[in-house]
Amino acid sequence: MPRLSLTGPDAMTTAAAALDFLRQRKEHFSLPQPFYVSEDYHRLDMQQIFGNSWIFAGLSCETPKAGDWMTVEVGTDNVILVRGHDNIIRAFHNSCRHRGSRICLESHGSSKRLVCPYHQWGYELTGELSRVRYMEGDFDKKDFGLKPVHLRNVAGYLFISFAAEPPEFDSFRRSWEPYVKAVDIENCKVAFTETIVEKANWKLVMENNRECYHCAGSHPELLKTLTEFDNVEDPRMDRGYRALLEKKAADWTALGIPYKNDHHSFRYRAVRLPFLEGALSMTMDGKPASRKLLGKFTDPDLGSARLLSLPNNWNHLLGDSVLAFRVLPRSAGETYLKSLWLVHKDAVEGVDYDVERLTHVWRQTNTQDAKLASDNQLGIASRGYQPGPYSAMIEGGVRDFITWYTSEMQARLQDRLQARQTPALAAQ
Ligand code: FES
Ligand code: FE
Repeated sequence: MPRLSLTGPDAMTTAAAALDFLRQRKEHFSLPQPFYVSEDYHRLDMQQIFGNSWIFAGLSCETPKAGDWMTVEVGTDNVILVRGHDNIIRAFHNSCRHRGSRICLESHGSSKRLVCPYHQWGYELTGELSRVRYMEGDFDKKDFGLKPVHLRNVAGYLFISFAAEPPEFDSFRRSWEPYVKAVDIENCKVAFTETIVEKANWKLVMENNRECYHCAGSHPELLKTLTEFDNVEDPRMDRGYRALLEKKAADWTALGIPYKNDHHSFRYRAVRLPFLEGALSMTMDGKPASRKLLGKFTDPDLGSARLLSLPNNWNHLLGDSVLAFRVLPRSAGETYLKSLWLVHKDAVEGVDYDVERLTHVWRQTNTQDAKLASDNQLGIASRGYQPGPYSAMIEGGVRDFITWYTSEMQARLQDRLQARQTPALAAQ
């Protein structure tokens, strides 16, 4: 099948068809089939959602020293995040200003400057071009620095945006910052990472994460410590858990630890909830995964702060560890899921923590979720598929995600098609 241009007439037909589907769809039902299976719609997602939103890229402790860098692949774009000598992390397009080669070819590395492997142009960690050979005439190095990518750092959580004018960020920062500051990401280290390819559209990976309707049937390990609900208003909350919630709220208030449900936006949220009575960490026996607590914590009984940032990130911030998850689409039917486990940087493997014990619950959970999402994808590809309803009680998170997605997509497609019909606007 020929590839469609992002701006050609075929792409405009796809955009118009997608907009029609969104206008006609039943609210709180799953999306029409092409949103999950079509490569043309996947390109719309990459352009309209991943091309315009704030995307979770990684954590500052992944590049702990000056010169440390990592790369993040978002569709056809690749971004370098590098820590400078001034300790500031910056983001650049991974595309050389000479003839466009990728510069950093690995997922992580460390170097005094970034040197393109093709003809060895060298860039400072701040992006300026500093080393070139044989360029004559009025060539001026100042004109050929690396192209920056917008980056925001929320106490160690790194977000990038490709938008010319990225969406408002400060309200999100205010919501998340107290939770993230408390775990002190700069003084954490990456204990383990795992990247898997799920055979499902990225929206199915996120939908699956936004509900625990499936937990009882699929996640025996996860449910050893976690409740099925993560909403303090949930009617399924029993008297025992409500009493625990009230007790922990009083404890956390006394300790100055954030816990309140901040849910002013469909795009993001932050709330801390206790684990099941007696559990301190997401381990098989509920006992701590690491002996060294994070930040200034003195009490290990902190449940987990559950942080969500659409389109591509969820997290559990515990007293002894941080679990962060990054979703990036690979194609219409494939998605990368990267999981990171952080512990205190002074925690010693084999003494203070054991990687298998630390990671077991979520590695199992990821494998189980990958199977559920790929089976979901296969069923949606069937000619028998028809969008189905989300439960208000137990799939509220999916409703919120799809409400956010459809309103973003609808607004952007409307703008795009309107600009197309108004050449003067299109030229702006
Ligand atoms: Fe990078 Fe030539 S393309 S130095
Ligand atoms: Fe799950």
